[in-house]
Formats: sequence, C-alpha cells, structure tokens
Amino acid sequence: MNRFLDRPILALLTSHWLSMLGSGLVTTAAISWLLVLPLQMRGHVENPYMGILLFVALPILFVAGLLLIPVGVLLDRRRVRRGVAAAQDRPAVMRRVATFLAITTIANVIIASQLTYRAVEHMETAQFCGQTCHVMAPELASYQNSPHSRVACVSCHVAPGASGWFAAKAAGVRQLSAVALNNHPRPIASAIESGMLVPDSETCERCHWPQGSGSVKFSVIPNFGDDEANTATQTVLMMMVGGSKAARGIHGAHFGPGVSVRYAALDPKRQTIPWVEYTNAESNDRRTYVSADVKADQLAAAPRFQMQCVDCHNRPTHRFELPERAVNRAMATGDLSPGLPFLKKQAVELLRKEYASADEAGRRIPEALTAFYETKYPQVAGTQRKAVTDAGKQLAAIYQRNVFPDLKVTWGTYVNNLGHTDSPGCFRCHDDAHVAANQATIKQDCASCHELLAVEESTPEILKTLGLAGKIAQLQKR
Ligand code: HEC
Ligand code: HEC
Ligand code: HEC
Ligand code: HEC
Ligand code: HEC
Repeated sequence: MNRFLDRPILALLTSHWLSMLGSGLVTTAAISWLLVLPLQMRGHVENPYMGILLFVALPILFVAGLLLIPVGVLLDRRRVRRGVAAAQDRPAVMRRVATFLAITTIANVIIASQLTYRAVEHMETAQFCGQTCHVMAPELASYQNSPHSRVACVSCHVAPGASGWFAAKAAGVRQLSAVALNNHPRPIASAIESGMLVPDSETCERCHWPQGSGSVKFSVIPNFGDDEANTATQTVLMMMVGGSKAARGIHGAHFGPGVSVRYAALDPKRQTIPWVEYTNAESNDRRTYVSADVKADQLAAAPRFQMQCVDCHNRPTHRFELPERAVNRAMATGDLSPGLPFLKKQAVELLRKEYASADEAGRRIPEALTAFYETKYPQVAGTQRKAVTDAGKQLAAIYQRNVFPDLKVTWGTYVNNLGHTDSPGCFRCHDDAHVAANQATIKQDCASCHELLAVEESTPEILKTLGLAGKIAQLQKR
C-alpha cells in the first residue's frame, strides 16, 4: 500500500508525538490501575477519592490515550504520503498491522468495558454519592438513619435505563463543577425544588405496592414536658392509610383505581398550592378546587404537577428532625435519661443555639449541659455524672446529623410534608378553603385521616384497654 505500513509496530506507535503520548497514557493508566486494584478488591479503601481515581480518573486517561494513538498514526500517514511518492503493496505488513489492531482493540474494549462497568457500579454506591461530595453530607447522614439505609441512592434518584443514567451523569457533572468552583447553592435545593426527582413509577413503585400497604397504621408518638420531671405523655393515632378498593383511606383517596390528582404550585418548594383537580375515571367525577385568595394571573402562570408519592412522602429517607422531636425520641429510647431534671427543656435550648461548626457544637453542647447540672443541680452532677456526659454526647450527635453550618442547613431547612404539625403538609390542600364550583371543599375532617385515640396523655386509656400501657414505652427502649 504505502511506506507507512512498511514499518514495525513500535515505529508506527512512536512515529508521531501524539501516538507516543497516547501509548504512554494507555500503559501508565493500565499499570497504575492494576496496582491500585488489589487495594480496592480487599475492600479496605475507606477514602472515596480512591474510588474516583480508580474508576473515573484512570479510565478517562486510558480512553484518552486510546484515542490519541490512531490520531497520531493518521497524522503521520499524511506526512509520509506528502513526503514520499511511491507506494508499494505490502500485504504481509498490512496483515500484521490489522492483526495487531484487532487484538489490541479487543483487549482494550474488554478492559475499558470492565472499567466502565465498575465505574458505573461504583458511582451507584452511597459511598460515591454521599461521601465523595461533601455537599451531600446532610443527605448521607439522614439516609443512614432511615428505613431506606439499605437502598442505593440511585434507586430513587436515577431512572432505570440508559437515558436516566445519562441524565443523572449530566446533572452530576454540572453539580461537580459547581462544587469545584464553590458556587453551589447553600443549602442545596431540595430535589423536588430542583426537578431532580424521577417519577415514582420508576422508583418508589418498583419496590412498594401502594394498593397493598396496610389499611391502618397504629402510631404512638412520645412526648416529654418542659417541667423539672420531664413529664412523659403519649399521642396515639390510628392512621387510615388504606389503599385498596375496600379500604379507600389516604392512599386510595389520591391514587386508588381511576383516581388522579393534579395541582398547581406558586413556589418552587410547592408549599403554596392554590389549585387542585380531582378526577376519577371509574365514577366519572371531576372537581376543581381553587383557593379564594389566589389571583387569576398568578394561577395561570403556576406550573402544574401530577400528585405522586413524594408529594406526601418527600422525606422517606432524608429525615431531618426538629429539636423537640429528636429529643422526645431519644428520651423515649433511653438515649437521653428522662431522670435528669429539666433535661427536655435544656436539651432543646442547647440544640437551638447557633454554633459556628459541627466541631464547635460537639464541644460546647456537652460542656454547657455539664455546667448546667454543676451549677443548678450539683448533687445530680455528682451522682448521675455518667448520665450527664452521655446526654451531652447524644445531643451533640443529634445536632451533627441535622445541622450543617458550613452548608447553611439548619433546623427546618428541609420541610417534611407528611403531616401538618411541623409544616403545612397535608393542610396545603386540606384547609377547608379550596372550593369547587359546587361549593365542596378539600376537607380538614380530623377523622378522615386518623382516629385520634389520645393526644398527649400520660397513660392513654386506649393503651390500657389494649393491654399495652407500659409495653409500648418498653418497646421503644432498646
Ligand atoms: C427512598 C428514596 C431515596 C433514596 C434511597 C435517596 N434519596 Fe435523596 N431524595 C429523595 C427524595 C424524595 C428527595 C426530595 C426531597 C424533597 O424535595 O423534599 C431527595 C433529595 C435529595 C437531595 C436534595 C437535597 C434535599 O435534601 O432535598 C440530595 C442531595 C439527595 N437526595 C442525595 C441523596 C444521596 C447522596 C443518597 C444516597 C446516600 C440518596 N439521596 C438516597 C429520595 C431518596
Ligand atoms: C429499592 C427498593 C425501594 C425503593 C426504590 C423505595 N423504597 Fe421505600 N422502603 C423499602 C424497604 C425495603 C422499606 C422497609 C424498611 C424496613 O421496614 O425496614 C421501605 C420503607 C418505606 C416506608 C415506610 C417507612 C416507615 O417509617 O415504616 C415508606 C413510607 C417508603 N418506604 C416510601 C418510599 C418512597 C416514597 C419511595 C420513592 C421515593 C421509596 N419508598 C422507594 C424499599 C424501597
Ligand atoms: C396523600 C399523601 C400520600 C401519598 C400521595 C402517598 N402516601 Fe404513603 N402514606 C401516607 C401516610 C399519611 C401514611 C402513614 C404514615 C405514618 O403514619 O407513619 C403512609 C404510609 C405509607 C407506607 C407505610 C405503610 C405501613 O403500613 O407502614 C408506605 C410503604 C407508603 N405510604 C408508601 C407510599 C407509596 C409507594 C406511595 C406512592 C405510590 C405513597 N405512599 C403515596 C400518605 C401518602
Ligand atoms: C395536592 C393537594 C393535596 C394534598 C397535599 C393532600 N391531599 Fe388529600 N385529598 C386531595 C384531594 C383533591 C382529595 C379528594 C377530594 C374529593 O373527593 O374531591 C383528597 C382526599 C383525601 C382523603 C379522603 C377524604 C374523604 O373525605 O374521603 C384523605 C383521607 C386524604 N386526602 C388524606 C391526605 C393526607 C393524610 C395528606 C397529607 C399526608 C393529604 N391528603 C394531602 C388533595 C390533597
Ligand atoms: C388530611 C389528613 C389529615 C387531617 C384532615 C388531619 N390530620 Fe392530623 N395528622 C395527619 C398526618 C399525616 C399526621 C402525621 C402522622 C405521622 O407523622 O406519622 C398527623 C398527625 C397529627 C397529630 C400528631 C402530631 C405529632 O405530635 O406528631 C395530631 C395531634 C393531629 N394530627 C391532630 C389533628 C387534628 C386535631 C385534626 C383536625 C383538626 C387533624 N389532625 C386533621 C393527617 C391529617
């Protein structure tokens, strides 16, 4: 064919500086990869940057090298053509080069596909998502403390299939550059707000069968008073979860057979919902509810959404607590000793104070709690020293998993829509003030959502009747 093929492979690979660079990159990446791999395989790599190096940076170098080699060869070929006129047929050389190219390509494809496969796998772990990127520290902390702590981040954040993967990676690159340039928002927007959530038919509903969940759910919510004795009370609710045709309940009312609910929101966090449309294909009902105080032009401009699981369960895994609730829970489980006078009041006050950093909170909260007992209750400080120091540590831990001063994430930054006591939640629509043409409203009838069996009672009658009086409290302890 030409002079160009007349040369040994090594000469070919080294004939142009680009090919040379390419070969260099390929070998270096491959060798370093082989060197780091055993570490990762032994599973002792805690440092997430190692993962990035191994499954992202090295493969990129490797592929870049692969691309450079043929570019160099091609450029070199042009040079040879221009310079040297005569061309000879060299079938043997051609065969050799073809075999070389075939073999190396196959080998490279295998290596590269293995690398990418592992890279994808790696990028789907909670380690990669939550730890590599420090801005996600709050989400990782809340996730580890939730019923989904065994579910991969991507199960909820990435749609299955190639397009979902690419969309997520594109967003990931955008986010990564925002982090690198340090211009990411603080706090980062909730996923609903930034439109980063995948439709629930591709996430939640792959694991949960909405029509199948229990018809009622018995909830016992602990509470402790602000008094010296931290007086314990309990709220007992029977939640009408429902879902089936027989038990319509909460789930059935919004997405039972034939039911569809759409709504419009005025703000990105979807806290102000002025328009709700209910349709039922089975009964041919259609009702449109509008709140009286909304202006027509505002409503026309508001985006519309189909109601989904996450419109109620927006915090199924990133459950940030409020100080009162976190302290109530810790006192119920015994992590905080209810025997310490005024602990509830002190604890909530200390948690609500501002600290410059997680470290500072970790130091100052235990110090302040100890100081309180030493000055106000010296006897308690003496006899219950361990309970006081343990309580200090527990409070610091509660603070550190909910408040992230450097990211401007504080109490209540991310609201929970499942309920109505800590944020509007259900009452965004169920406020008796969204009115349909026939004057019907979306009701706030307490009993349609839950049977209130006891509200902050010290020994709820219902628990006695069920023979559970002391047992629930016992169960809540570890
Ligand atoms: C069970 C489903 C689920 C899993 C698993 C999950 N998330 Fe989320 N995540 C959500 C939902 C739902 C939201 C939206 C909350 C909202 O908008 O109110 C969210 C929001 C976020 C946000 C935006 C900030 C915020 O708090 O709203 C980040 C960042 C995030 N998740 C990261 C992660 C990381 C990292 C992991 C794995 C360690 C993970 N998520 C696992 C469901 C999940
Ligand atoms: C990969 C599977 C998977 C996905 C995806 C998933 N979940 Fe779950 N979810 C689970 C498992 C497993 C549990 C039960 C945990 C347990 O009981 O220990 C659970 C528990 C729950 C619970 C009950 C929590 C409680 O307090 O008892 C709710 C509510 C829930 N999920 C909602 C959601 C929502 C909303 C989504 C979508 C954003 C979702 N889940 C996505 C597997 C999944
Ligand atoms: C209208 C609001 C709303 C919507 C929409 C909604 N849920 Fe629920 N769901 C609730 C409430 C309220 C509970 C009871 C929570 C509790 O008491 O802890 C609940 C309970 C659950 C439970 C726990 C059931 C049990 O018996 O422990 C699961 C699982 C669940 N929902 C999954 C889903 C999934 C999946 C979707 C979407 C297909 C969904 N939910 C949509 C309000 C909703
Ligand atoms: C986006 C608006 C919206 C939100 C948010 C919402 N709902 Fe609803 N809800 C509706 C609509 C619309 C209906 C049906 C009204 C009708 O029948 O015309 C409904 C009906 C119900 C019903 C049936 C009432 C009855 O009398 O039959 C229950 C129960 C219910 N919702 C519970 C909840 C709970 C619990 C939450 C919060 C976790 C919640 N809803 C949040 C819009 C909403
Ligand atoms: C649209 C449905 C809905 C209506 C109407 C409703 N609630 Fe609730 N309520 C909820 C949900 C959901 C929760 C949260 C349950 C959970 O966190 O597990 C809740 C929780 C509560 C709690 C427990 C708060 C706590 O300490 O955690 C009380 C008390 C309560 N509701 C009282 C009422 C009263 C009183 C009314 C009538 C004015 C009412 N609710 C109407 C859905 C509703």
